[in-house]
Amino acid sequence: MDTLISILVLLSGLPLQAHCIRLTVSPSKLLNGLTEKLEVNCTFLAGSDPSLSSLTSLSIRRWTNSTSLREAATVSSFNGVTLSDSVTAVGTIDNSGMSFLNVIWSYPNLTNQGEYECLADGLDTTGHPLSRSSNYNVTGLNPESELLVEEILKLRQTIHHLNTDFLSLKEEVSIFMSTLTHRVNASHRTMFETSAAFNGSQYSLYSIDTVVDIVQAQATCEIYGGNLVEVNNENEFHFLKTFIEDVSDAALVLIGGNQINDVGNWVYSHSNASIDYFRWAKDYPLFTMGANSIRRGWELGVPSQQ
Ligand SMILES: *[C@@H]1O[C@H](CO)[C@@H](O)[C@H](O)[C@H]1NC(C)=O
Ligand SMILES: *[C@@H]1O[C@H](CO)[C@@H](O)[C@H](O)[C@H]1NC(C)=O
Ligand SMILES: *[C@@H]1O[C@H](CO)[C@@H](O)[C@H](O)[C@H]1NC(C)=O
Ligand SMILES: *[C@@H]1O[C@H](CO)[C@@H](O)[C@H](O)[C@H]1NC(C)=O
Ligand SMILES: *[C@@H]1O[C@H](CO)[C@@H](O)[C@H](O)[C@H]1NC(C)=O
Ligand SMILES: *[C@@H]1O[C@H](CO)[C@@H](O)[C@H](O)[C@H]1NC(C)=O
Ligand SMILES: *[C@@H]1O[C@H](CO)[C@@H](O)[C@H](O)[C@H]1NC(C)=O
Repeated sequence: MDTLISILVLLSGLPLQAHCIRLTVSPSKLLNGLTEKLEVNCTFLAGSDPSLSSLTSLSIRRWTNSTSLREAATVSSFNGVTLSDSVTAVGTIDNSGMSFLNVIWSYPNLTNQGEYECLADGLDTTGHPLSRSSNYNVTGLNPESELLVEEILKLRQTIHHLNTDFLSLKEEVSIFMSTLTHRVNASHRTMFETSAAFNGSQYSLYSIDTVVDIVQAQATCEIYGGNLVEVNNENEFHFLKTFIEDVSDAALVLIGGNQINDVGNWVYSHSNASIDYFRWAKDYPLFTMGANSIRRGWELGVPSQQ
């Protein structure tokens, strides 16, 4: 019968204690030199302890040996947060809600191991001082221990996950790229008359009924990874002349030369190189819209007119 009674006391006593002052610690095992931070939180919810009717402060401290306590930080309703150790801390006392004190040690070492305590000071229902506390043991280990192995295994697992994520991402990107290339290729085939290679470059002729401006034309070429043609020498000119005559009866072919920024100073839009090779067609260069708004773009005349 005695045994039964003492068991009942324990059961009703434990959860009550655990619910008033909550002390959480992370991690509970410190790896000397590897653990980046030790975070200790103490919380108290107003009303969770019927006898502690008003809270005045929360302190987080550590037992350095069986008789001596070292305080890290305190939060009180009068002074706010005060630090006694090289820690960072935030906290508040709120007698109508959640009071808390959150303390962080960066790069803790073996001196951080020990029993941590959260002390709550307040008043009972008759106005007498009342204290409550909650404790938590933190152990420190030198990395030669098996925990290091655990840590390394965890890292390996993380790397494995990252690797898997990376590989599937890579595969998705590759599928996306091939679909995109396929589409761009297909649209290239329908948009462009034909193409030919000369001196390491591929030339395509895009045929439309209306004259577009050089900016639009350049943008269209860029979609397909190219740029408006820049005719740099006689060989290239003759190659283009033959190519265009073979595949098209176009009256005008836009190339990349322009004098948009500086009238009279012709440059190629892609390379920004000033043009030193000219083969104007008959009646060209052609200015159709007055001196200040010249038709943009250098139009290579129909080659047969040369
Ligand atoms: C401590 O409290 C902060 C803020 O409420 C929270 O983000 C953190 O996860 C808590 N840490 C622990 C160990 O309970
Ligand atoms: C406990 O630590 C305190 C302060 O660090 C020291 O003064 C005291 O002698 C220690 N007591 C024991 C029993 O080691
Ligand atoms: C542990 O850290 C504290 C605070 O950063 C420092 O004062 C102390 O010298 C360190 N101890 C060791 C053994 O590294
Ligand atoms: C912490 O460890 C000490 C010594 O081993 C022990 O007496 C104490 O009960 C432990 N505290 C908690 C909260 O586990
Ligand atoms: C797209 O065209 C290029 C060159 O014409 C070719 O090398 C590539 O294999 C084509 N890709 C697809 C997906 O059709
Ligand atoms: C071929 O291209 C190279 C480099 O762009 C250039 O130096 C060379 O003159 C070109 N050849 C012909 C025949 O246009
Ligand atoms: C093009 O060249 C001109 C003259 O050399 C220079 O002023 C201009 O900044 C260049 N533009 C670009 C986009 O490189």
